[in-house]
Amino acid sequence: MKMGCFGHSRNRLFQVVEICGMEGVSGSSPNRLILGDNLTVMRALPDAGIDLIYADPPFGSGRTYRGRARPGAAPPAFADDWGPDLADYLAWLSVRCREMWRLLAPTGSLFVHCDHHAGHYIKVELDRLFGRAAFINEIVWCYKSGGASPRRHFSRKHDLILMYARGPGYFFQPQKEKSYNRGGKPYRFKGVEEFQDERGWYTLVAMKDYWEIDMVGRTSGERTGYPTQKPERLLERIIAGCCPPGGVVADFFCGSGTTPAVAARLGRRWVACDESPVAVAITRERLLQLGRAAAGKAATPEFTLEQVSG
Ligand SMILES: C[S@@+](CC[C@H](N)C(=O)[O-])C[C@H]1O[C@@H](n2cnc3c(N)ncnc32)[C@H](O)[C@@H]1O
Repeated sequence: MKMGCFGHSRNRLFQVVEICGMEGVSGSSPNRLILGDNLTVMRALPDAGIDLIYADPPFGSGRTYRGRARPGAAPPAFADDWGPDLADYLAWLSVRCREMWRLLAPTGSLFVHCDHHAGHYIKVELDRLFGRAAFINEIVWCYKSGGASPRRHFSRKHDLILMYARGPGYFFQPQKEKSYNRGGKPYRFKGVEEFQDERGWYTLVAMKDYWEIDMVGRTSGERTGYPTQKPERLLERIIAGCCPPGGVVADFFCGSGTTPAVAARLGRRWVACDESPVAVAITRERLLQLGRAAAGKAATPEFTLEQVSG
C-alpha cells in the first residue's frame, strides 16, 4: 500500500504522529498513527489498499466522554452529542463509511461497532450504501458491567458489530470455540472429538455470532483509562478471522489503540487515526510499551517505533 501522501500534509489538516516499522513481517510498509479528522485522512489514501477496517465510532449516545484524570479536571476525550435528531449523526457516519468502503481491497471487510442508540438505523444505512448482499454478520457482543439497576427496562448489556464484505471473495478464516456438554459429562458420540477442562467436557464448534467477552474493567491489565476502550479479545477474533497474516488493518476511530495493538501482536500491519489528542497520546504510549515488551522478550522485536514526525 502506498502511503507517501501522508508526508505532504502541507496545510496540516492532519498530522502523522508516529511511523513504525515492523520487523519480521516481510515486505511490510510502515504503520501509521495519525491525528486528525478521519474524513480528511481517508480522502488522502488510495483505493483498495486495506484488508480490514474496524470502525468503533461514537454511538450517538448524547454523552461527552472524558479521559483518565478526575471528571471535571480531564479534557474531554471525545463528544458524542448530536442533538435529538439522528439525521445529522447518520449523515456524518454515512460519508465516512463510504470512504472506508472505497479503501477496502476486493477481499476486504468492514466491521462497524454500534449499540441500541442507532444500530438499527446504521444497519439500514449500510445496506443502502453497500447493498444487502454485502451484509455478512451481526455480531452481538455480550458483557457484564456494573451500574445502577434500571427500573423501567431490561439492563442493556450488549453491543452490535455489523460485518460487510467488499466482494464475494472476501477473506475469512473460520475459528472454533468451546461448546460445553450438558452436565459437563462426555457424550462419546462416534467420530466427535471431545476435550476436558476445569469446567467439564466440551467439543469445538464453529465460532458463533454472539460473543461473551468481559469489558475492560477497572482491574484489567489492558486498561488504559480511555473511555469506551474495547477489549483486545474482541479485536483478536475480528483480525484473526478477517485479515490475512501480513495484511493491513485500519481503524479510523482508534481511541486508545486497541486495534493497532492487537494487529501488531498478530503480525498484521496497521493504520490508526483519531481526532482526539488524548486518544492519540494514549495509543502512542500503548504501542511504545508493546514494542518495549516485545523487545524485552525476543532477540528480534516484533516491531519498533522508528521515527516521530510532527
Ligand atoms: C468509541 S471511541 C473508540 C474506542 C476504541 N475502539 C478503543 O478501543 O479505545 C470513538 C473514537 O472516535 C474518535 N472520533 C470521533 N470522531 C472522529 C473523527 N471525525 N475523526 C477521527 N476520530 C474521531 C473519538 O475521538 C474517539 O476516540
